[in-house]
Amino acid sequence: MSLSTEIKESVNGVAGEEKEDNVQHIVDMVNLSDISSIKQSVSAIIRVINDPGSTVKELKEVIQLDPPLAAKVLKTANSAYYSRSFTRTFTDIEQAIIWIGTEIIKELALNQKVCEIFDRDERIEEYSRKTLWHHSVAVALTAKFIYRREYGLKGENAYAAGLLHDIGMIAEDQFLQDDFRTILQLSKTKSINITSAERETWGFDHAQVGEAITASWGLPEELNTAVGYHNNPLNSCFEFSKLVYTLYVSDYFCQNNGFGFGAVPDRDRALFNECLRLMDVKPHALEIILKNVKQEIKTMQNKGLL
Ligand SMILES: [Fe+2]
Repeated sequence: MSLSTEIKESVNGVAGEEKEDNVQHIVDMVNLSDISSIKQSVSAIIRVINDPGSTVKELKEVIQLDPPLAAKVLKTANSAYYSRSFTRTFTDIEQAIIWIGTEIIKELALNQKVCEIFDRDERIEEYSRKTLWHHSVAVALTAKFIYRREYGLKGENAYAAGLLHDIGMIAEDQFLQDDFRTILQLSKTKSINITSAERETWGFDHAQVGEAITASWGLPEELNTAVGYHNNPLNSCFEFSKLVYTLYVSDYFCQNNGFGFGAVPDRDRALFNECLRLMDVKPHALEIILKNVKQEIKTMQNKGLL
């Protein structure tokens, strides 16, 4: 019996425990597949990002643990964009970190690694992994800028949460492709968001799958919670609500401004406005952030990173 059929049968039974089993089943498949190849490096980079006492040496060690990643980071550091700025060639990761800056290198390494799982050309309706990658980068940048500009905080997990928030969708397009196609059609014809279409079909959604994946990789609880509640922010716990609301707002705002696939249903507007109110962020601030995001995306494209 296919995973899809098994899931449909158990959804018909509508038992909460069975839904959990289905999500766990998908996570097990993810962890046996190529998707989990990014696990070790991504969790090591996120650990360094969350450690205020981490050193250049530690960041270097994390990057060097993954030779293809190290090669990519060096290649980017030596690309026309950076070599023009520094008129030198980097042959050593530590040199590259010192010259380019730890913050930039951490994001660069995270981008390089996470984008590996979005590297598939196939389209399903308006969805493709490439479109999802562009959306995820825009969400990551928006979340980061909200933290820095609006809260005056570094937001250690904001960027990574943006990059990884839709990882559940990747698992679904890989292991439940026929159902996923139906869900995308359902969301379009009924003008509902993908999450609602997923819940109608399976009884769970990509946010729950995503949270189960990132939790199984041992990523920080704040990040996992944000991934898990990014479509259902008001139900999250208070402790991590800042990142959860920020992620929801960034996700909605990016989708509404052309960084996504499909339109955002009108009925989601009220939830977006409520989160903005709880965050005490003015819509005008988001417009300024959008300009920064577009600028940053242009820079990334010039660097050959997008
Ligand atoms: Fe999203």
